[in-house]
Amino acid sequence: MPLANGFLVPDHFSDEYFFELAPALCSGCGMVQLVEQPDPEKMFHGDYPFFSHSSRSMAQHFKAFADMVRRDWLTGDDPFVCEIGSNDGILLKHMAVAGIRHLGVEPSVNVAAAARTHGVNTLAAFFNRDVAQRIRHEHGAASAIMAANVMCHIPDLPSVAAGVEHLLAADGVFIFEDPYLGAVLEKTAYDQIYDEHVFLFSLASVMRAFEPFGLTLVDAEPQSTHGGSMRYVLARHGRRSPSARLETLLAHEAGLKLTDHATFAAFAERCRQSRDRLVALLGELKADGKRVVGYAATSKSTTVLNYCGITDDLLPFIVDTTPLKQGRFTPGSHIPVRHPAAFADPWPDYALLFAWNHEAEILAKEDAFTRSGGRWIRFVPKVELIEV
Ligand code: TYD
Repeated sequence: MPLANGFLVPDHFSDEYFFELAPALCSGCGMVQLVEQPDPEKMFHGDYPFFSHSSRSMAQHFKAFADMVRRDWLTGDDPFVCEIGSNDGILLKHMAVAGIRHLGVEPSVNVAAAARTHGVNTLAAFFNRDVAQRIRHEHGAASAIMAANVMCHIPDLPSVAAGVEHLLAADGVFIFEDPYLGAVLEKTAYDQIYDEHVFLFSLASVMRAFEPFGLTLVDAEPQSTHGGSMRYVLARHGRRSPSARLETLLAHEAGLKLTDHATFAAFAERCRQSRDRLVALLGELKADGKRVVGYAATSKSTTVLNYCGITDDLLPFIVDTTPLKQGRFTPGSHIPVRHPAAFADPWPDYALLFAWNHEAEILAKEDAFTRSGGRWIRFVPKVELIEV
């Protein structure tokens, strides 16, 4: 596999970086993780093309996240909050506007710069114990440390856990959310497996990972973002009691058998079937002389395109709102990425929806395509035409 966000120009086709994308279940701790992890500096750099502000529903989600933290967890006077992997400030800007002392820690310098333009204090760095020490020295302990779609990206989880342990106030909470292993398996959302997602967390694996750092899982809440995520709340041992909701979620998770080999063998088989159906459908449409265009060059699309072997022969281009991706080519599959204006020029017969997690928002926005007679294709939870 190439890097999911390694959008490139033809000059670099010949020296493109590839690695072995192999997820595995750790029989010791029950964590699902990638066996081989590319160097983080290859993935998160000054040219990183993912900006959280690219979706309206995510903007709403992060406002609700910030409101929840303020309402439920920021009780003391003059609290300080910190976010790990704060991206373009989509969450912390709500803290900034409310006058709450805050700091975002974001390794991609271009994204960190975008956050500052939103009035968000941002340190361009990878969060670890040394950085946590510096932050605590300058700002004091944090009442809340947050992370969204970030923890699963960090190979050295212990270094982050040690940093959290160092920075967190005695009664502080560490709240993070990531795509949930249970949802990935239930929906056959294999496209959540790519270089940046080093871990696919479950409640049980999160509990075990943070236990050695004195942090206990005290609450969790399923989220609809990224097609099915989980929000985890951790506190120092003995400082808060586990919620009733957590007990219910743990009981549900036990039923999913997330540490059984058979569960993953069945998932792998469903992935193969999904791939075969998608390739067959695109082949049939091509044979019928239909034009199919890709919609949203997501990170997830890199896994789909490379796993299914889809190239510009079946999909001539993909439209995407991210300026940094436009004019470049998709990693590995080398399909051109174009400005969204190309979508209507002229309308294709079919659109393959790579951002299936934003289906409602996109279908509403592209109502004119549907009215032109265009049809949407989704592939999660199964390959099918969307009934509008
Ligand atoms: P997301 O599902 O968050 O992507 P990822 O798989 O990378 O986590 O979708 C973000 C991408 O989708 C980004 O490249 C912008 C693109 N996009 C559009 O092009 N149009 C849209 O209407 C939306 C919501 C996203």
